[in-house]
Formats: sequence, C-alpha cells, structure tokens
Amino acid sequence: MTQLVDTERDLLRFTTAGSVDDGKSTLIGRMLYDSKQIFQDQMDSLERASKLRGEETVDLALLTDGLRAEREQRITIDVAYRYFSTPKRKFIIADTPGHEQYTRNMVTGASTADLAVILLDARKGLLPQSRRHAIIASLLAIPHVIVAVNKMDLVDYAEARYHELVREFNDFAEKLNIHDLHFIPISALCGDNVVESGDRMPWYEGRPLLRVLEEITVTRARNLVDFRFPVQYVIRPHQDFRGFAGRVASGTIRVGEEVTILPSHYHSKVRSIHVGDKSVPEAAAQQSAVLTLENEIDISRGDMLVRSHNLPVIDQEFDAYVCWMDESSALHVGGDYLLQHTTRISKVHINDILYRMDVNTLHREGTDRLALNEIGRVRCTAAQPLYFDPYDRNRETGGFILIDPATYRTVGAGMIRYTTKETLRELRRERGEGQLQTVVSTNISWDQSLITPEEREAQNRHKALCLWLTGLSGSGKSTIARCVERALFQEGIQAFRLDGDNVRHGLCSDLGFSREDRMTNIRRIGHAAKLLYDAGHLVICSFIAPYEEDRTFVRELFPASAFLEVYVKCDIDVCKQRDPKGLYAKAERGEIKGFTGVDDPYEAPAEPELLIDTSSLSEEETVERVLQFVRQQL
Ligand code: ADX
Repeated sequence: MTQLVDTERDLLRFTTAGSVDDGKSTLIGRMLYDSKQIFQDQMDSLERASKLRGEETVDLALLTDGLRAEREQRITIDVAYRYFSTPKRKFIIADTPGHEQYTRNMVTGASTADLAVILLDARKGLLPQSRRHAIIASLLAIPHVIVAVNKMDLVDYAEARYHELVREFNDFAEKLNIHDLHFIPISALCGDNVVESGDRMPWYEGRPLLRVLEEITVTRARNLVDFRFPVQYVIRPHQDFRGFAGRVASGTIRVGEEVTILPSHYHSKVRSIHVGDKSVPEAAAQQSAVLTLENEIDISRGDMLVRSHNLPVIDQEFDAYVCWMDESSALHVGGDYLLQHTTRISKVHINDILYRMDVNTLHREGTDRLALNEIGRVRCTAAQPLYFDPYDRNRETGGFILIDPATYRTVGAGMIRYTTKETLRELRRERGEGQLQTVVSTNISWDQSLITPEEREAQNRHKALCLWLTGLSGSGKSTIARCVERALFQEGIQAFRLDGDNVRHGLCSDLGFSREDRMTNIRRIGHAAKLLYDAGHLVICSFIAPYEEDRTFVRELFPASAFLEVYVKCDIDVCKQRDPKGLYAKAERGEIKGFTGVDDPYEAPAEPELLIDTSSLSEEETVERVLQFVRQQL
C-alpha cells in the first residue's frame, strides 16, 4: 500500500485541450524539448523536417503531430498517451487533438486525468470551444485546471490582455464546478513560462507551467472507498483454480473479506489476490488483479464483485450528462444505442433529453436531439440492470460510452448523474409540468442590455446580491428580512424583500403547498429575485423553500459569490410555541395538510453561507449578525 501511494505521488496524469491552432502540439513539444525529453535522433529528424519547410527554428508541433498521424491509423478512440518525466515527477499526457470535432477526445482522454491544461489563444480569447472544454472538465470532475493563455508573444506580452482573459474565464468558471483553477501567461513558441520563466513577462509573478505541474499537490479523483471489481474474464487453467481477472475500478480489497457477486447476489470470501505473478494481501483501485473466492460460484465476464455492505446502484433506468461526438448523426429521443459500461456492453434506449446546455450561457434549453459536441442531460433505459455509482462519486462506474449499433463507432460519452428512482420520479414530474428546466417557448433569444452589471454596481456604489433566508415557518425569516431591509435601506443600499406570504398574494397566488407547487413557487421566486439582482439590487428572499433541490436550482441562477444562503435554524418546538399565525396548531389538529415540519419534510441546507439559530439568540442579535455578514460581502 505504502509503495502504491509513493509512486502515485510522483505521477501526474494530465490532458491538454485547446481549439485548432491554440498551440497545443507546440506546447507539448516545448515541454519535451526544454526539459530535454527528446532523444537525439528525434531531435535530428525534427531539425531536418523544419529545415525542409524552410523554417529557421525547429517546429516543435512536428514532434507531436507526426506521432499523431501514425496513431490515427490504429486507434478508434483517438487518444494517445505520451510519457515524460523530470527529476521531480512522471507525467502521462492524454494528448487530444484540438478541433471542435475532437471534443470526444477530451472526454475519453480526460476521464482519468488529474489535471487539465486548457489553452487559450491570447488574441482570440475565450472561444465557444474553450468554454466547452471548461464545462467538460467540470463535468468530468477533473480536480485541477490550468488555463494557459498562449501566444502572449503575439499580444506584446501585454499584462492587461492577460488579466482581461483571466477575468472573462473566471466569470464563466464561477458557474461551474472547478475546484482548483490556475492561470499562466505563456508563449509555447518562444518558451516563456513553459519550462523557464524567461524575462519577457516580469509582471507575472507565478511559476512557469512545468513547475506548477511538478509541484501541484494532486487531489486524486480516485475513489478508494467503494470496492468495485468488474470481471473481465474467468481464468481456469486446471480443475483446482478458478480466478477472476479484471481491474479494481475503485476501492480496495483484502484477502478474507466478504464480497457479493452481482447480479446473482451470492456471497463469498476472497481466498487470494494475485497481482502480476505475486500473491498479495490487498489490491487497490486501478490495479489489475486476479481474485479467487472460497466458494465455487458461477461468475462470468461482466459480473461485478463488490463488498457486501456497500453495493452500487442496480438499475436499468438512469440519467446522465451526455456529450455527443458523432458528426454524421444526432442523439435523439427514442434512439437505441449500445452502451459500454465497465466490462459490459448492453443495449440502451434514450427515453428523454431533459435539456441541452448552451455552452456560452450555460442555460438549459429544451430539445429532442443532441448534435456533434453538444452536451445535454439524458434519461435512458438499459436492456439489463447496470451496476453503477453516480459519476461524481465514482468516475469508473459512473462513466460510459455510447456506440452506434450499426457502425460500432463511438458516438457519445456519458457521466451518470442520478441514482435513485425517487429522484428520477421527481425529475419526470418536473418535466411533466414543464417546470424547472424546460423552456417551452421556441424562437426566442437573449437580448443583451447596453448597461453592464459593473456599471450598475458603480452607480449604486454596492454589489448586487441575493440573500436567501430559508427555515421553518415561525423560525423568524420574515422578521429578520424586514429589519435587515430597513437597516440596509437606511445605509443607502438598494435593498428589496420578497416574502413567502406576500408573493403568494400575486405572482404565486395560483399555487398551494404540494411538492410540485412548492417547486414552481421557488422557481418563479428564483427568477424574480434574479431580475431584481440584474437590476442591481440586494434582494432579500424569505421562504421556507424546504427542498434542497429547489434551493440549488435558485443558487445556480446566480454567480457563486452573489448568492448567500442563510439557514435560519430554529428548533421545531420553539416554532410551535411561537406559532405566530396559529398554523402549527391547525396542522396538528389536521386542519392543514402537508404543513412543513408537521407532516411535510424540511431538508436543512448542508452548506449554507451563514447559519443562525434563532432559538438561542435575541431578535436584535440575529439581525445584527445577518447585517454584519451582508456588509462584509458588499
Ligand atoms: S414554500 O414551501 O413554497 O417555500 P412559502 O415560504 O412560499 O413556502 O410559504 C410559507 C408560508 O405559507 C408559511 O409561512 C405559512 O404562513 C403559509 N402556509 C400555509 N400552508 C402551509 C403549509 N402547508 N406548509 C408551509 N407553510 C404554509
């Protein structure tokens, strides 16, 4: 185990993504060249080839492009791995060509990457393809992203241009799920900030790219918790030995541990583990191993061994983000494909496309097809149950590939999103009602204002924000909201309040308190709050909003730093005692059905920006805390 961890620390798997001509090949070539990773014979032929083209300097792109041409003949999924090392670390690059049509390489090549380098051309800035790469990196849960702003030599190494692009990318990435984001201005062609800093960008104080790659503390996206062993084949050299060969997709397993075999659900214990030709006590994620069990059980390719108390989801129905990669066909509702998932291939039917993502705005659009490079959320039914985990928990058992049954071409890659039937039901309900995500209107487009949010903020002299108070009825949300609104108004802040009961007098007077109605209520309020926010206001919302899913929906309408969730916590018994409107009493007498906290659920926020417990604080203290918190954010 220790040894495994040590070697792992020395290894970084990364992928590079950029549009055509962003200089990816040159960058990789530059890294190999400057870190002296090219053999002399390669070097000689490079120089010859460059001279033949009449070039003075060596064309580093030839190095990687040459190799690519060779590979393309042989591999169907077009990703090639390049290896190089420096004294500090070994590197594996999943090298993925840059043209739009090659998004698929980003998907397939990146799925095991620890880090993605996204290249921008300093002159062109953020192209749709760059945004797409950022979205994919986020969907694939790649732990680290480096944005290399390339071709700085062509913009005179201008610091201002670099910062402009950093800002633009940051604004976009805020809405994505990227945990660790770095920016580096480089010139792959001239070598600035690739291996050495050089002296042409003295204003950049950070490290050159290779240093970052060498020194970054890698958060592995590997799952070491859930043991999943998809069986690749059964080895039976003689009567007395029956081994199951495969790669540990995730988790660890030790000799003597109990396992369950799927789909039969038989139990057994691990008798031995072989890695290579050695018998070992333990195997861990990504190791290839042969396991033997204590009992004779019929197991075949495609079965999965898991730990008995930690089963994956076993289901035929699931929904997933799909990135479509085929130029000659579109994924469509009602379509049938082959699905490759772990070591199994099964038929799969597309029931529904929940939405397509607009790569520029990240808006969700209703559609019934996904064309080349489009990303959407898709609901599918497989012909047999799959054993999976959601992708954000387990890349190995949460990822899959879609294959065209007629041509056997890889046409899509997917990341499973949801797990439970209940969630799927909810999603369908959402759809059925045309609620959260779907846009029913067609032929509409977004009309851009001539006033920027920054201009409004400058005029108001404060930021626009959404302060979202959630909590049980009687917890004190409305009281806090009222006082906070008054106090901020007096400080010259454009504060405006949306309140549960008030909104239900007009905008939402057609709604009751069923799950669906509450969802619609919060969706409308979310959009109303967003409009006020766009107008530059500090919007204070006080709603029970009992469901995490609905609150997340609202959160995602805002940039991350502009949505502040305050959990107004209060003991249910205290709420019942306060009972300002006598509603708890009614609910307990059965006169109101589905009352939150009595016979309807309240899902407390897991990670609110602020939590205040009104059962133990006075009204003044509570209001003061919220005010202090808001003032810090303005
Ligand atoms: S939410 O669940 O959709 O967010 P909202 O905040 O708009 O609820 O409305 C809550 C207010 O409606 C409560 O403060 C209470 O006065 C009133 N109300 C009436 N019936 C119910 C109910 N069944 N559950 C919760 N609140 C109710």
